[in-house]
Amino acid sequence: MGHYLLPKKVVLKDGRTVVLRHLRWEDFEDILNLFNSVAKEEECIPYLGVMKEISREEYLKVFSNIISRIQRGKEIRIVAEYMGRVVGFASAKLGSDSFRHRAWIGVLVKKGFREVGVGTELLKAIVMESSRVGLKLLLAEVSTLNPRAIHVFTKVGFKKVGKIPYGIILDGKYADTVIMGYAIRNC
Ligand SMILES: CC(C)(COP(=O)(O)OP(=O)(O)OC[C@H]1O[C@@H](n2cnc3c(N)ncnc32)[C@H](O)[C@@H]1OP(=O)(O)O)[C@@H](O)C(=O)NCCC(=O)NCCS
Repeated sequence: MGHYLLPKKVVLKDGRTVVLRHLRWEDFEDILNLFNSVAKEEECIPYLGVMKEISREEYLKVFSNIISRIQRGKEIRIVAEYMGRVVGFASAKLGSDSFRHRAWIGVLVKKGFREVGVGTELLKAIVMESSRVGLKLLLAEVSTLNPRAIHVFTKVGFKKVGKIPYGIILDGKYADTVIMGYAIRNC
């Protein structure tokens, strides 16, 4: 898998530089803001469905759980930081028991930082980190109405492994989803 160390500086297509690094406690406000800013974006509904904004108190519980999962080796979360603020993240949620070799992958980039390479770099980093901890199989589920996400997952090596009819409800209407898989190496 080559040599890949975090934190890592990456120059984006528009010349801005972000730092990729592991999530930390201090990112709470930024991640909450990122989540709530995406929840307000109508253009994201075909990709993610209707997301409800979340209160600080409620997200504190969610975030504590994420940190706890990271500390227990059940999750990997990498953020892209621009001028001290988190502008995107990728996550790998690890399975357990018979599914301990695999993880579900998610990725989210803040408006204003899309289409300049952040998502691609975050996914490359999460693949590398997943490989480093011994995972064998990465999976992602993407709305078929999200060709950009499908393109980015494909670009870093994921392959479409199946389609789930009616896989997601988007503002009351169903859409299909695609399962994308990345085999890190033969088991
Ligand atoms: C999807 C997302 C994570 C991708 O991250 P990003 O930083 O915008 O992606 P990048 O800039 O690295 O790459 C975007 C690529 O998609 C391509 N693209 C843009 N629109 C496209 C479309 N309609 N169809 C196919 N490809 C498209 C771009 O040309 C670029 O490809 P290239 O680098 O090969 O030229 C980000 O846009 C995002 O968070 N979107 C909103 C939420 C979301 O969809 N999350 C994913 C849920 S699975």
